[in-house]
Amino acid sequence: MLEAKPEIPTYSLPGPQGARVVAIEDAIDTTGTKTAPIVVKHAKGLMLEDVDGNVFLDFTSGMVTATGHCHPQVVNAIAQQAQQWIFINSPDFYSPLQAEVVQRLAKLVPGLEARRVFMCNSGTEANEAAIKATRWNKPARKRLIGFLGAFHGRTMGSNALTASKVAQRARFTPNLPDVHHLPYATCYRCPYKMTYPNCDIWCARILEELYFKQLIPPDEVSAIFVEPILGEGGYIVPPPEFVKIIRDIAQRYGIAYVDDEVQAGMGKTGKMLAIEHHGVTANCTSLGKALGSGVAVAAQVLDADLDFGAHGAHSNTFGGNGIALAAVKATLDVIEEQRLVERAAELGEYFIGRLRELQGRHDAIGDVRGKGLMLAVDFVTSRATREPDTAFRDRVLARCFRHGLMLLPCGFSAIRFTPALVVDRAQIDHAIAVLDTSIREA
Ligand SMILES: Cc1ncc(COP(=O)(O)O)c(C=O)c1O
Repeated sequence: MLEAKPEIPTYSLPGPQGARVVAIEDAIDTTGTKTAPIVVKHAKGLMLEDVDGNVFLDFTSGMVTATGHCHPQVVNAIAQQAQQWIFINSPDFYSPLQAEVVQRLAKLVPGLEARRVFMCNSGTEANEAAIKATRWNKPARKRLIGFLGAFHGRTMGSNALTASKVAQRARFTPNLPDVHHLPYATCYRCPYKMTYPNCDIWCARILEELYFKQLIPPDEVSAIFVEPILGEGGYIVPPPEFVKIIRDIAQRYGIAYVDDEVQAGMGKTGKMLAIEHHGVTANCTSLGKALGSGVAVAAQVLDADLDFGAHGAHSNTFGGNGIALAAVKATLDVIEEQRLVERAAELGEYFIGRLRELQGRHDAIGDVRGKGLMLAVDFVTSRATREPDTAFRDRVLARCFRHGLMLLPCGFSAIRFTPALVVDRAQIDHAIAVLDTSIREA
């Protein structure tokens, strides 16, 4: 029943049943980030059916449900675990399930043998744990460094590092103090108006050459937070040297390097973790989103010497609950058994090739970028000026929704494609056809 049809359907959104639900949620939910009035009844693989019987191809949820909606192995694992135990106060007691999961997560992250893992419930909580662990271990270092365009979460600590849109910060000041931001390596629209590689990666070197001399005493910095590929900020892939240089500076100044893999991790980029594309390792790694195939779960994987040194310094309630652990275990199994990382690399090549074909036909597409199945197209008013065309992007998105293709925006003028890693070529072809039509209509 749930199949992407070869013809391109058009839906009225919301339908009559959906409209009732939208009215209730809009009246009661706090204002958040709702993007389209799609009212879900059920979802399987990459397909989703709404309460009015409309069927959508979902190229948004792979960010979280990388194994596809309701993967049978994950569903089964959750159901079985629910019969055994759901909650045992995992931060206080022990279980073979948590022992296995933390062992596997410690091994999954490249780097030192000696690792500690903190199980938690969301990406922001994983990043808060990194802020607190590095502060606990480097108490004289009160400053943090992040990047413009980055998204690390919305609680008051991680929100101080988030700098992707002004709306995420407006009226919330003061956040955590002494958090400094540098422009991220954004070659398509270089903030320094330079050109790669003649720029000599100034966006990374400026940290040591100017900031550490004029603004930030490096021995006061506990951690630097880096997304290996910018997610919410626009699916921006930095040039190969960028992460290496920042990593090297962090190491030389005793600053913990925090790799935020919440969006880019778990196979989406064609490597299990996106930092593997850069050939470096991190001191702290934040995992979330796709870790539990849609179940709320996240983890902070730390070098053992960054562990909290005192009983009770940091903990939580729901970290390591039975459902989350079972979901993580099953997700890791599915990713391994079905070789989804390799699949993301292979299908990503095909997908980006098809997006580039589309770029050849539509001048409005200025840039096509990404790695594996974490891809984006960026819309411009002119290819010469590369000026972002937010209004056009929004019209394309609206047309895609009407034609049954679910997509999300990112950055100021890009659309991101983050299908589940179980996507197939026919689904990619269908998405390309819908996008093509939608761009012509917009
Ligand atoms: C890179 C990155 N870090 C952290 C977060 C925050 O995760 P959560 O919404 O689970 O708190 C996000 C969410 O989009 C993210 O993309």
